[in-house]
Amino acid sequence: MKTSPAAPAAHLGRLLADVTEPLGRQLPPEYERALRTVPRHLFLPDRLWLRDGDGGYRPCDRSTNPDGWITAAYTDTPLVTRFTDGLPSSSASMPSMVLRTLLLAGIGDAAGGARPRRVLELGTGTGFNAALLCAVLGDDAVSTVELDPLLAAQGERNLEAAGFAPAVSCGDAAAGWPPGAPYERVVATFSVDRVPPAWVEQTTAGGRIVTPWTSAWCRYGTLALTVGRNGTAHGRFHAFASFMPMRRPCRDTAGPATAPAPQRKGATSLSPLSPWLVAGGDLDAEFHLGLAVPGASFAWDTSGEHAPTRLHIADDEGPSWAAVDYDGHSADRFTVTQAGPRLLWDEITAGYTHWETLGRPRIGQYRLSVNTAGDHTVQVETGRGRPGITILGEPSRPSP
Ligand SMILES: C[S@@+](CC[C@H](N)C(=O)[O-])C[C@H]1O[C@@H](n2cnc3c(N)ncnc32)[C@H](O)[C@@H]1O
Repeated sequence: MKTSPAAPAAHLGRLLADVTEPLGRQLPPEYERALRTVPRHLFLPDRLWLRDGDGGYRPCDRSTNPDGWITAAYTDTPLVTRFTDGLPSSSASMPSMVLRTLLLAGIGDAAGGARPRRVLELGTGTGFNAALLCAVLGDDAVSTVELDPLLAAQGERNLEAAGFAPAVSCGDAAAGWPPGAPYERVVATFSVDRVPPAWVEQTTAGGRIVTPWTSAWCRYGTLALTVGRNGTAHGRFHAFASFMPMRRPCRDTAGPATAPAPQRKGATSLSPLSPWLVAGGDLDAEFHLGLAVPGASFAWDTSGEHAPTRLHIADDEGPSWAAVDYDGHSADRFTVTQAGPRLLWDEITAGYTHWETLGRPRIGQYRLSVNTAGDHTVQVETGRGRPGITILGEPSRPSP
């Protein structure tokens, strides 16, 4: 490892203090050493995008705002570095989230157990996380793969400038990275709604896979799995992290995109369930609904065009939709319109009722198993000694 330009001392001191609280324990000395030897600003482009507090992003340029830029670099926050089709597609992850993920993956002495000799990081991005892995485990232990060729090249340059040399590859992480397999740890830095079979196949028995989780309804939680001897994997969810979802490589299609189907007229009814209970920020409820009602996503509409407030629900893979309207007065009666083969509000209502019946389980009570066919089963533990209740158990989807 070469010596790299140091992080500005005052900024680094603040970051070291800030990451400790979300970690929930004292910063392990080897992670502190890693943060000191991996100056985060070396991994950042001259233009960063910061949250504007209004649901959007504002640019922060090194040339015009050098103080703001370096302060952002050493703040415990994710920094968006790239947009694709108007949406954030790459970022320098939040340092405390990176450290929590490394601990969960059992990386470093602080995590206990044997030091992993081969680790695959998925989503190189800026290279910052890969550099931390190198600082803890050594360059030879680390492989990292990035979908976007420009990001992969930039990430590798950043790593080199900071004095690290892991194996950086460009490719779709859904396939893992076979040339470096098998791995003792696979760590994703984007969220998935199912675990690609390649990740399980490329992890040694007893090895761990850690990945942020997402569903159409709720992007939240981190899944930590241990791979068994028979090619299955089991583990549980942890209540932290919200990462951008896994991207798919662009694919050529045989013809022009088909026009969206015209919106069908829906049937109306009244519902006593408040839309705020299912989509108002209760992450435990929303996490459950994401598993129980696959493919359903929501958006709030406060334009007043249809009602003072409307919760719009869509089926990501079909024509069904639902709308739940608040008239500005009645908090116990909402007008619901539903259309299509799926009655989405009925599914959400049933899912929420089930979650309440189960005693409002928290994210940490959910366990996931993947079998050799790639089928996912999610169970929720509702009490000591009692068998888990199956929330999601389904045959594997055909590949797209
Ligand atoms: C949160 S960012 C990564 C942060 C990065 N580890 C760091 O420390 O800066 C997620 C990255 O995953 C990449 N990504 C998303 N889908 C991918 C895929 N299917 N294969 C490989 N990389 C992917 C994105 O391009 C993006 O750079």
